[in-house]
Amino acid sequence: MAQYDVLEHDVLVIGAGGAGLRAAVEASAAGVKVGVISKSLLGKAHTVMAEGGVAAAMANVDDRDSWRVHFADTMRGGQYLNQWRMAELHAKEAPARVRELEAWGALFDRTRDGRILQRNFGGHRYPRLAHVGDRTGLEIIRTLQDHGIHQGIDFQMETTVVTLLKEGGRIAGALCYDRERGRFKVFHAKAVVLATGGIGRAFKITSNSWEYTGDGHSLAYHAGASLIDMEFVQFHPTGMVWPPSVRGILVTEGVRGEGGVLRNKEGKRFMFDDIPENYRTQTADNPEEGWRYTQGDKSARRPPELLTRDHVARCIQREVREGRGSPHGGVYLDIAWIKEKLPHAAEHIKKKLPSMYHQFKQLGDIDITSEPMEVGPTTHYMMGGVYVDPDTQMSEVPGLFAAGECGGGLHGANRLGGNSLSDLLVFGKLSGEHAARYAKANKAPSLPKAQVEEATRQALLPFERPSGVNPFQIQHELQDTMQNLVGIVRLEHEMIQALDKLKEYVRRAAEVGVSGNRDFNSGWHAALDLPNMLTVSEAIARAGIERKESRGAHFRDDYPDKSAEYGQFNIMIKKAADGGMQVIRQPLKPMPGELKQIIEEMK
Ligand code: FUM
Repeated sequence: MAQYDVLEHDVLVIGAGGAGLRAAVEASAAGVKVGVISKSLLGKAHTVMAEGGVAAAMANVDDRDSWRVHFADTMRGGQYLNQWRMAELHAKEAPARVRELEAWGALFDRTRDGRILQRNFGGHRYPRLAHVGDRTGLEIIRTLQDHGIHQGIDFQMETTVVTLLKEGGRIAGALCYDRERGRFKVFHAKAVVLATGGIGRAFKITSNSWEYTGDGHSLAYHAGASLIDMEFVQFHPTGMVWPPSVRGILVTEGVRGEGGVLRNKEGKRFMFDDIPENYRTQTADNPEEGWRYTQGDKSARRPPELLTRDHVARCIQREVREGRGSPHGGVYLDIAWIKEKLPHAAEHIKKKLPSMYHQFKQLGDIDITSEPMEVGPTTHYMMGGVYVDPDTQMSEVPGLFAAGECGGGLHGANRLGGNSLSDLLVFGKLSGEHAARYAKANKAPSLPKAQVEEATRQALLPFERPSGVNPFQIQHELQDTMQNLVGIVRLEHEMIQALDKLKEYVRRAAEVGVSGNRDFNSGWHAALDLPNMLTVSEAIARAGIERKESRGAHFRDDYPDKSAEYGQFNIMIKKAADGGMQVIRQPLKPMPGELKQIIEEMK
């Protein structure tokens, strides 16, 4: 029997990105004992990839903004499949969460009169993104870490979850291993907050780093929680496409917010060719007006480069497919052109977009102040996640909470840029608050030792097959399958083909083998990540097959239109009693009259 240590906490937070840190800060402030585990090192979270800003209707740059407009924009971006109560809480509370961060030491860029500066982003009607150059996520993580570290929170880095533990139907903690030595650790807790981020590593081209293998989604699903909106995977339109070693790395939407334009190899601004009907009245039909908008002209309409991400990503894919792409299979993103308009454009670009400048200079030997970047879509964000109660963030499993990217519901069919940072602040706080409350109201469950022993036995099986299947091989094949068959443009027969392949990977995953010992054994780590990647991939494909229409980030070439029928429900994924995956249509909850009215007025 494998040895393990037991660590006791009231609230265990799994994940140390923005949502996890914000949850931990809140739970700790409520006076309970909090542990945070992080799959990699503290500070290394996908939160830092939300570069361009945090969306909050503070109205510092345009006083027409308000929570109502933010709510309406978020619902429209999500094509009205959003959990409206989450969208309401999010829009109302985001400004307070940003001001609180500032009070904790976050250094935002400022307006001339000293207020927090806000910039334009896709789908937001007014300049709404409070930012720190193009390093906003990083500054948020830094601030939350600094704040949390003084609160007595127990941080355990380089620690990965194997399974959640349950006792008497409620959560009882998690079994983990430390990556360095491969030792098992049992975190015995009254409440668990999942804040593990996304699933990007299930795809070949992604802005996500190696940690994002859908752990929280999969753990919650296997513990009995439902997943919502799993068909909606966001492909950010602008990832780096060159050199190949950095393909997928994010190029912030802030570049377009600052006036950057997209061109094909003929030099044409192709985004003017296809402006969706519901954005037509707000979108400029000439370059001059688009430029004036980015410069704060309130009478101007926004440039088409700032349409929602799903639309921009598909337009880029169209250009490439039809032979008008750049040499490395992308299109051109040009911010250097603003030197025609601004006297000190190069300094301006370096000041506003310092990371982008260095990223391209160092990784691609490209100077973005004088030449365009080559960009293309990259898997960036998972709209789908653990189904939670909007006011508490608790899932259907008592004591199990979820926040940030691994919690579902806020974004519906598509997330607006910048709404991820506000999401993790608003719902990170709520989850921490309610997890602490739950922990205070409930006794510690007993430790389910038999579950721990069985899970450790299972986790060690790959060592008994030293010449078994290579886990990295399955991982690569899975990423190809998801990229090619369940990617930006989907077809029923391709997704069915993907499911067949996934079944085969599941069979082979049961035969993976690793050699060596448990000390920093990356093959073993990959073997343990595989079941999570396979679970979320199957959920995405099944939900994608079920939604026979195109909406938001889910585009079906065989059903290219939006369907009124499919706009009435969310698709839920739940583990059936026989272990199979159930796909359920859940009707949307009726929206209160005053929220409906806001949406109507904003239309
Ligand atoms: O483009 C970006 O800076 C990404 C922001 C986000 O995903 O929210």
